[in-house]
This record gives sequence, C-alpha cells and structure tokens, in this order.
Amino acid sequence: MDKKVTVVGAGNVGATAAQRLAEKGLCDVVLVDILEGVPQGKALDLMEAAPVEKHDAHITGSNSYDETNGSDIIIITAGIPRKPGMSRDDLISTNAGIVKKVVTDVVKQSPESILIIVSNPLDAMCHVALETSGFPKNRVIGMAGVLDSARFRSFIAMELNVSVENTHAFVLGGHGDTMVPLPRYSTVAGIPITELISKERIDAIVDRTANGGAEIVSLLKTGSAYYAPASAAVEMAESILKDKKKILPCAAYLEGEYGINNLFIGVPVKLGTNGIEDIVEIKLTDDEKTRLNQSADAVKELVELLKTLDY
Ligand code: NAI
Ligand code: 2OP
Repeated sequence: MDKKVTVVGAGNVGATAAQRLAEKGLCDVVLVDILEGVPQGKALDLMEAAPVEKHDAHITGSNSYDETNGSDIIIITAGIPRKPGMSRDDLISTNAGIVKKVVTDVVKQSPESILIIVSNPLDAMCHVALETSGFPKNRVIGMAGVLDSARFRSFIAMELNVSVENTHAFVLGGHGDTMVPLPRYSTVAGIPITELISKERIDAIVDRTANGGAEIVSLLKTGSAYYAPASAAVEMAESILKDKKKILPCAAYLEGEYGINNLFIGVPVKLGTNGIEDIVEIKLTDDEKTRLNQSADAVKELVELLKTLDY
C-alpha cells in the first residue's frame, strides 16, 4: 500500500486500531510495543485474517522503531489505562514518561509524520508530544472529541430509536469530566435535538456522555474502552490519509481561538493531508463559553502539574 501508519502500543486500543486500519484497506500498519512477542503475534494473527477479510494491507509487529521508518501517521496508544476508581488524570506521570520516550523514538524515523495522540490524560499528553517532537502544531492532534461525540450520537440514536447515521453531535473541551457536549449543534437528520428530546432527557444524555469512559471502566473492571476509541482514531487517520477534509472535534493547540491560548483542547478542526488544516470557530452562548473556559482551566491545571513532574 502507498500509505503507512504506525500504531504504538499493541494493547486494546492499539491492536483494535491496527485491525480497523487494515480491514478498511487504508494503509500498511506497523504495530510497536515493549512487550516481546505481543506486537509480532497480533500482527501475524491479523495477517492471517486478511484472506478472509479480503484486504492486502501488510501488518508488521515489532519491539523496535526501525520498521516504522517513513510512516505518514503515528497513532500513540502506549501507556497504562484506567482501572475502577482511577481518573484519567491519575495516569499522568507514568504516561508522560512513556509518551515522551515513544515520541522521541518515532520522530527520528518519521520526521514528516502526523501524530495522533490517544494516551491519557489526553490533552496533557498532547502537550508532551508537541514539546518532545518539535513538530508544528498542525501535526500533533489529540483523539477525544470524535469518541465523546460518537458516544453522544449513540445515546441520541438510542433515545429516539433512529439510525446512528442520521445523528451528528459536537463535544468540545478537554477529555475529562468537564467536557462540553453541545446539544444546540447536535442534530438528527438536520433537526437540532433540542426540538426532538425534552430538556430533562437531554441533560441525562449529556451527563452519560461526559461519564461515558467511566461507565465502560466500571463494567470492564480491568481496563477502559477500546472499540469506540479505536474507531475514533481511525476516522481521524482516514480523513488525513485520504485528504477528506472532514470537520471533526479533536484536541488542537489553540493560540487565541475561542479566546484560549497555548493550550490543547477539543474544538472542531478540518483534517486533511497536512493534519489540522483549519480550526473552526463556532458561536457559543455565554453559558457554553463559560463551560468551555472551565474545561480549559481543568486542562491548564494538569499542564501546570506536568511542569512539576520529572518524567
Ligand atoms: P492497554 O494496557 O491495553 O495497552 C497499552 C499498551 O501500551 C500495552 O500493550 C503496553 O505494553 C504498551 N506500552 C507501555 N509502555 C510502552 C512503551 N514505552 N512503548 C511502547 N508500548 C508501550 O491500554 P489501552 O486500553 O490500549 O489504552 C491505552 C491508552 O489509551 C491508555 O492511556 C488509555 O487511558 C488511553 N485511552 C484514551 C482514550 C481517549 O479517548 N483519548 C480512549 C481509550 C483509551
Ligand atoms: C475513555 O473515554 C478511557 O479516555 C477513555 O473511554
């Protein structure tokens, strides 16, 4: 294939993302992990599924970065996931060290690549990746909003018993409890959900969306969600690989947009060959703006904490 994507972390999210990339026939995939045999075993297993799934993507597993050379996109899922009782923020010092090491290694092999960060706490890990890589801000993108919006869309479809394909939704802000789902900009067949669902039920759906990650953690008990997160990362990668220029909510480094400075936070962006090609500024009500600022403050706190850590 003429495109190549490296997925670092061959755990739940990484291996599922590799599977989806290959099965959609988007690119060759290199799966990297520190665990010996795991990326190799999963890559071989995926290759053996290829004749049945009918794709010709080549999947390689490795414990080193040599094979990642010249990747178009690097999806970083390396790190530890949440366990019950843990917030995403509890992962910060372990995952900051892992993301720093991984980014240092991948950029040596793929200096022109685009980084899609998945590891949590997401917005803070984007800061680590931007600083470590030295990449321009359009080539460091965080995955969270596509996942959070997908959860919102699923809950809307369940509520109204309609096809998920009819739903659109926007979730802004940091990937944490302060995320800002926007019912006004969320629609079913173009109709705002505020016309279709009672305020009480919208509030319940918004709350379930904001706690969507914790809901899965409490059910799984040994880790966090991975099917929907992998789908979300792959939708972003596909828009870049095919230069589709989809508008998707992603964590982007803001320099004045939405009145926020020097911070990664979830906003609608246009994704194409150059990564983030535009940041779309939508009009917010005073209440939405206040909540976005509160979410930005929560991310800022974590970024300040990062500065005090030796990772
Ligand atoms: P997992 O534990 O299944 O997989 C993580 C993998 O990373 C493991 O195989 C581990 O060996 C590997 N790893 C650790 N250190 C490494 C290093 N230095 N180099 C290469 N590989 C390394 O975890 P899972 O469920 O795949 O989650 C991965 C990360 O993604 C977690 O931090 C999780 O919180 C985050 N996440 C973020 C989401 C988001 O919306 N941004 C959604 C879901 C997960
Ligand atoms: C999620 O939202 C854990 O961030 C991950 O599922």
